[in-house]
Amino acid sequence: MSEAFIKQFGTGNGSIKERKFQAPARINIIGEHVDYLGGIVLPAAIDFHINATIRPNGTSGYRLYSEDFMSFWETNEITKSDKAPWANYILGVIDQFMERGFEVPGFDLSLEGNIPQGAGLSSSAAVEVSVGYAINEVFQLGLDRTEIALIGQAAENHFVGTNCGIMDQFIIAWGKEKHCISLDTSSLKFEYHHFDLGNHEFYLIQSNVKHSLKDSAYNDRRADCENALRKIQKIHPGLLNLYSLESSTDLASLGLSDNELKRVKHVITEKARTERVIAGLRDGNFIDVGNALYECHDSLSKYFEVSCRETDFLVETLRKEKIIGARMIGGGFGGCILVIDQIGRMDDTRAKIDQAYKVEFGMRADFYQFKISDGVREII
Ligand code: GLA
Repeated sequence: MSEAFIKQFGTGNGSIKERKFQAPARINIIGEHVDYLGGIVLPAAIDFHINATIRPNGTSGYRLYSEDFMSFWETNEITKSDKAPWANYILGVIDQFMERGFEVPGFDLSLEGNIPQGAGLSSSAAVEVSVGYAINEVFQLGLDRTEIALIGQAAENHFVGTNCGIMDQFIIAWGKEKHCISLDTSSLKFEYHHFDLGNHEFYLIQSNVKHSLKDSAYNDRRADCENALRKIQKIHPGLLNLYSLESSTDLASLGLSDNELKRVKHVITEKARTERVIAGLRDGNFIDVGNALYECHDSLSKYFEVSCRETDFLVETLRKEKIIGARMIGGGFGGCILVIDQIGRMDDTRAKIDQAYKVEFGMRADFYQFKISDGVREII
């Protein structure tokens, strides 16, 4: 039962019960900014969550409540709302069901959760997938998890206006306890990888930085890559996507702008790092996993230019402290750092990082431990 739901919408008439669905947050171990370029990504679902509680209301209208924003929104029409931006992630999902020819009867829905927003842990994709999964279950529309993920992505692309790739929605739909997945975003084929970290652990450091231009910068990076691909395809007409460009290609001969050249450098070197991380997790070579994470961060910072002073500082400080590996994750421009290190060193690291970060930026860095969890599901 959801107290927020009952407080907002009452207990109903008893004949139709509300149902509750939970979607996790995600980390991405490696394969960053390649999921809209046909690349391979290595995400996992983690035990932060959004709960969506839903009950059909017998009308053609949608009554929506966000406990986190303490905000209510009611509408019969699927149009973008400037007054309740959080509701657009729900309306966008309804819109995508309708686009696919489904009828979506009216419902009451409340959202609550503990995924920190702007932390790069995909709170918005968790909303989309929890709502998409809930609608699909409650109205028995018969879609599978991949289709729910695609609906979430399309809602974000066409309704909210961020041109994100498929990684976040996909892992939130398909996540599995104690496993990450390697997802080939050109075919949507994926494999589960069970890994045993032995006496190592992953944890997160939240920089507490949220840049307001994050979404427009994300769209700009994607546009750089698409422009680069168009130019390269004039010379290599058979090239399907940027990720498939051989890393040995003579980049200077491609007629790219300086920015395009930098973006391409990141994309074509990410494949080898991803392969190293998959092998390192399988074989217990955590030193190489850590090195690949640092190298990925450097590439995202220098070539893809999606880091910021604060996250660069955190990663540099960790490197100086000889922590095994760390990098920014997700879209960038703030948010979280993923760290891999030996178990038992986190408290000491926290004390050092906290102090250094306060001195440099006057801000706190939060440390989050997590477990790798299942994807979206119904809960009681
Ligand atoms: C955001 C997007 C994803 C992906 C990452 C970067 O999280 O939603 O699709 O592009 O950034 O890897």
